[in-house]
Amino acid sequence: MGTMQTMHLHANNANLVQAAGLLQSGGLVAFPTETVYGLGADARNAKAVASVYGAKGRPSFNPLIVHVPNVASAQKYVVWNETAQQLADQFWPGALTMVLPLREGHGLSYLVTAGLNTLAIRVPNHPTAQRLLELANAPIAAPSANPSGRISPTTAQHVLDGLSGKIAAVLDDGACLVGLESTILGLTPHVALLRHGGIAVEVIEKTLSIDLPQEASKTITAPGQMESHYAPNEAVRLNASYAESGELFLGFGPITCDLNLSQDADLIEAAANLFDHLHQLDKIGKPIAIAPIPQTGLGCAINDRLRRAAAPR
Ligand code: TXA
Ligand code: MG
Repeated sequence: MGTMQTMHLHANNANLVQAAGLLQSGGLVAFPTETVYGLGADARNAKAVASVYGAKGRPSFNPLIVHVPNVASAQKYVVWNETAQQLADQFWPGALTMVLPLREGHGLSYLVTAGLNTLAIRVPNHPTAQRLLELANAPIAAPSANPSGRISPTTAQHVLDGLSGKIAAVLDDGACLVGLESTILGLTPHVALLRHGGIAVEVIEKTLSIDLPQEASKTITAPGQMESHYAPNEAVRLNASYAESGELFLGFGPITCDLNLSQDADLIEAAANLFDHLHQLDKIGKPIAIAPIPQTGLGCAINDRLRRAAAPR
């Protein structure tokens, strides 16, 4: 694809209007959500969606998440049910993506769902994302705004590092507060965890009063489910109690290290720092050793991402 000048737009009102106009004319705009930066395209425009795959270098059979401003908009595209309503009441806007049956007459490009008869949909909890969705007045397909297989972006600079010259613009509204992608639940109709993410499984189980099977990664073959993903350039070694010589050490808790996910061993803080710290260490260009992270709450999602970052390529 040809090189273009990617605009770096601060998220003020004039720039939001411009970004919405770019989306409406089929352009690609990266925008902040509370989880990670997304690479947005009008989900009804097949050309725009195709160029998302082109910019990311992503295999085109992988379905995308559609972003909408509220439940009423979601209901235009999916067949709604009681569990979806219960989850939306509790978690939307927020870091939960629901996979529901596509509704007849949805009008979305087949590329968005990669031909599946289900759709992944979410209402992001971020004022800039919300305003952009309202101004664009369109369902916006948005994968994380990183080249396929690389670390997800939690700042506009991360987006530019990976996609500058390949997208029309990035809307900059600082760092993402959650820092991990959304949790994905299948509801077709049995509730199944498809990806660990920004909302801990325990919290969802409590809301629905059920036990979710803990085999997130086995059910679908897609970017977030591939063995090697979120990968820095150099090797990654997990559950390290110290760095070997030549390694950088990414710590957790009160230890000596090059960068610490959370000095206080706070999993929420660790999630917010995860991708940023991996980006920072990756820039130094040495193998990375990573301290153990407890497998509870957001630790499950953090460990999932770390396993993929460390997987053989
Ligand atoms: O937090 C997030 O979810 C971010 C922000 C931008 O919203 N988006 C994101 O998108 O992480 P992406 O494309 O990197 O990951 C989307 C995941 C993929 O693993 C894909 O397989 C899954 O959603 N997915 C999409 N549609 C699906 C469907 N119909 N059934 C099952 N999985 C689906
Ligand atoms: Mg991604």
